[in-house]
Amino acid sequence: MKHFTSVHDIGDLKIALEKAKQVKENPFADQHLGKNKTLMLIFFNSSLRTRLSTQKAGINLGMNVIVLDINQGAWKLETERGVIMDGDKPEHILEAIPVMGAYCDIIGVRSFAQFQNKSDDYNETILNQFIQYSGKPVFSMESATRHPLQSFADLITIEEYKKTARPKVVLTWAPHPKALPQAVPNSFAEWMNATDYEFVITHPEGYELEEEFVGNARVEYNQDKAFADADFIYAKNWSAYQDPNYGKVISMDKSWTVDTRKMALTNNAYFMHCLPVRRNMIVTDDVIESPQSIVIPEAANRVVSAQTVLKEILASL
Ligand code: CP
Repeated sequence: MKHFTSVHDIGDLKIALEKAKQVKENPFADQHLGKNKTLMLIFFNSSLRTRLSTQKAGINLGMNVIVLDINQGAWKLETERGVIMDGDKPEHILEAIPVMGAYCDIIGVRSFAQFQNKSDDYNETILNQFIQYSGKPVFSMESATRHPLQSFADLITIEEYKKTARPKVVLTWAPHPKALPQAVPNSFAEWMNATDYEFVITHPEGYELEEEFVGNARVEYNQDKAFADADFIYAKNWSAYQDPNYGKVISMDKSWTVDTRKMALTNNAYFMHCLPVRRNMIVTDDVIESPQSIVIPEAANRVVSAQTVLKEILASL
């Protein structure tokens, strides 16, 4: 594996899941792969789980790990070409990226959608510049359109908890006070569509995701109907994708909050969320604290997904 930015880079899902299982069972078996190799993690945005789980994955593989928060202590970066740099940004990303590449063997990048220009976001301008100019393998730690390490961890978790070969998985929109990117739901949908699960997406009208990500999923605008007989409820907020509302909050309808009444409509479904989650907006305290909530094992599997991907990249160096 050279780069990892989406489900398309992971290859056969069954093989990837088997490799993840091996990593989980024996996390320190591959330390020889990372010896004298440096992992650099670049954050343009905040993180708890991704930062810690990816560092832990690198350490488990015997790597040295460097973490840089671009907005805390680094020079402010200009990202547009052709700009006269007489403002507050003293360094251009086109020098910064190859410099960072010179100091490491593998680069992870977190760069969210900025909601200023939809085509810049959906063309993955920042992530692609790292791929083009770093000279090193690059993996996404959540880009403008996808969060593949999260989705891989979600898939590993569903495989661990599923009680039927073909579970019904429901991705539900839920209310949130701030505009959030579509990366997690896009990515989750993309990975679920790569399985043979029954996959349903439910959201209020106006929150339709890009068709490429919706794929063969059934879209159901009635959340109660979507929840019927579900085996897994995956809650997430996202802002509008469709024009003219791209990147905007167009509803905060609290009737979409996942509560015990909604969960009672399901087949005793497990509750999932990538975290961080706003309680009593996305999900009630009762649901997230219930035995059916698997948000903590889901987060723990972030080490497994990151380590499985890093191991593949290291093996290809
Ligand atoms: N789920 C996830 O990516 O969490 P962080 O934003 O804390 O990394």
